[in-house]
Amino acid sequence: MSATPVTTDIDIAVGVLRSGGIIGLPTETVYGLAARVSDSRAVSRVFAAKGRPAGHPLIVHVSSAAQAARYAHLDARAHALAAALWPGPLTILLPRTVEVPDVVTGGRQSVAVRVPAHPMALEVIDRLGEGVVAPSANRFGHVSPTSPSHVVADLDGLIDLVLDGGPCHVGVESTIVDCTGPLQVLRPGAISGEDIEAICGESIVPTIGESRAAGMLASHYAPRARVHLVTDGESSRTVAAALPDGATVRTIGEDLDAQSYAEALYRMLREADTDGITDVIAVLPTGDGLAAAVRDRLTKAAAERT
Ligand code: TXA
Ligand code: MG
Repeated sequence: MSATPVTTDIDIAVGVLRSGGIIGLPTETVYGLAARVSDSRAVSRVFAAKGRPAGHPLIVHVSSAAQAARYAHLDARAHALAAALWPGPLTILLPRTVEVPDVVTGGRQSVAVRVPAHPMALEVIDRLGEGVVAPSANRFGHVSPTSPSHVVADLDGLIDLVLDGGPCHVGVESTIVDCTGPLQVLRPGAISGEDIEAICGESIVPTIGESRAAGMLASHYAPRARVHLVTDGESSRTVAAALPDGATVRTIGEDLDAQSYAEALYRMLREADTDGITDVIAVLPTGDGLAAAVRDRLTKAAAERT
């Protein structure tokens, strides 16, 4: 039995958050680790439970654009994006208001906000009457969780509850768009750069050098297994043949469209570890939107750990 209870009862989840607890919260992208924005002690526990350095700021989750305005100064671009895409897998980086405690942003003047498209998350936020911070509910650097059992596998005993909202349908984290200056995409996700440009009527400026999204490390989303990247099934067989004796190999993604790939990606990486696989060979999908997001996560999962 796990030390952290798992429930579908929203009353219990709201009660735990009200009394200073931290909970696994379902969203359409991945499970978040939620605490009330105004509860700095609970927010500090979120960093501690994840083993996340304080300089990596958290996304504030709200239930409407009107509520986002309590935490962030929305410009015309942000209003247009919110109207078109919220609730949905888009996080907008904006100048923050005084309502955001320093611990949430690591002292930055900007705050990331989003409205998740999951009915249970929205009900929790509505009933609390305030936003919740929610980084992905995994140990720092590990693969994000897309089911309650993934949250328990990483954080059992370190958090107070997991609210079970079923499997996450998008499967990779939200797109992050920076609206604090020239429009930039800091993390690819289901919402593509083209979608954002069309809605804002403005071109995206490519990010050069180190990303301005804090915590975008080269190695992230990493299973224990080594991850090898290939572009097609044939090269996956060549790579597999060259691995040393004793390697246990699994190829993923060969026959998946981008949407199914994204939805299954983190489950497949986690299952490789529980099945004792030493080497995952991932066939990279082509295209933008979700395909670009899957390539981004796999590239980080394959990066050398320092
Ligand atoms: O889909 C998602 O966005 C999920 C679900 C739970 O909503 N959340 C998520 O949170 O992926 P997290 O903390 O794992 O990733 C958020 C990223 C981090 O790289 C963080 O450093 C960056 O957003 N970020 C957040 N606030 C920021 C800020 N004020 N300035 C720069 N980067 C920020
Ligand atoms: Mg994360």
